[in-house]
Amino acid sequence: ETPFETILVERHGPVTLFTLNRPQALNALSSHVLADLTQAFAAFEADPAQLCAVITGSGDKAFAAGADIKEMAEKPAADFFAEDFFAGWTRDLVKATRKPWIAAVNGFALGGGCELAMMADFIIASDNACFGQPEIRLGIAPGMGGSQRLTRAVGKAKAMEMCLTGRMMDAAEAERSGLVSRVVPQAELLAEALKTAQAIAAMPPLGTIAVKELVNLAFETTLDQGIVAERRTFQVLCATQDKAEGMAAFVEKRAGVWKGK
Ligand code: CAA
Repeated sequence: ETPFETILVERHGPVTLFTLNRPQALNALSSHVLADLTQAFAAFEADPAQLCAVITGSGDKAFAAGADIKEMAEKPAADFFAEDFFAGWTRDLVKATRKPWIAAVNGFALGGGCELAMMADFIIASDNACFGQPEIRLGIAPGMGGSQRLTRAVGKAKAMEMCLTGRMMDAAEAERSGLVSRVVPQAELLAEALKTAQAIAAMPPLGTIAVKELVNLAFETTLDQGIVAERRTFQVLCATQDKAEGMAAFVEKRAGVWKGK
């Protein structure tokens, strides 16, 4: 269905599934992967029929084993700066996407792989998943948000230890630490993630966009300002057709039919 070389894109009704598809390199995140994802995410965001997305890795071993080390090994230092290397990940996948997307982590999520998973709105992990920021071992440091997002997700002690030593966290520890919302058996991961995305896609679409924006705002603002923003958003949603429909459907004991208006 897709013209991309490094990813697969499938539509499951209102849910888009992105699959990182370089299994021979454990789905390492090259610039080509970013270019493909940028285009695919823009198409997802622009399509009013698509309401939620899932991203996963092909094969049963890795979600993504990091940024592509072979691409970075020979790159002149000035090029990293000139290209603002890695800036596109946050800009094109996080900032440009208002609709929710879920990472279904099916194995190694290391370096940029862990960082990509943390860019998602939440992570569902398979029981064999493991997470790590091993950049220190390569003479570099996380570059796609790991030092910031991991610290916010699991706190200073674990983030500091993981980034300083490269130690990996298994799925059970990741769930205990709040890095992932749920752990499921590997054979059920994709079905569970798609089912969760379908459940989100069945919600009033303006509501899901608003919730995503508000929860993310909790990481960017004070409690007072965040609570004001929440109340204003609540009040704006009260003006929507879907609010009238949702409350009427409740009173009439039937399912709501959403317009996204
Ligand atoms: N970049 C490029 N290629 C990679 C890769 C990566 N990040 N990770 C794995 N590969 C390639 C390997 O080179 C190998 O290719 P060849 O068959 O051509 O040699 C293939 O994928 C399979 O990998 P292994 O043979 O190493 O598999 P393994 O089961 O023995 O080990 C692993 C698995 C522990 C995940 C190991 O592959 C590994 O340590 N990978 C690198 C992890 C890493 O350091 N990630 C951080 C990258 S830097 C970064 O991400 C910066 C940032 O902040 C964004």
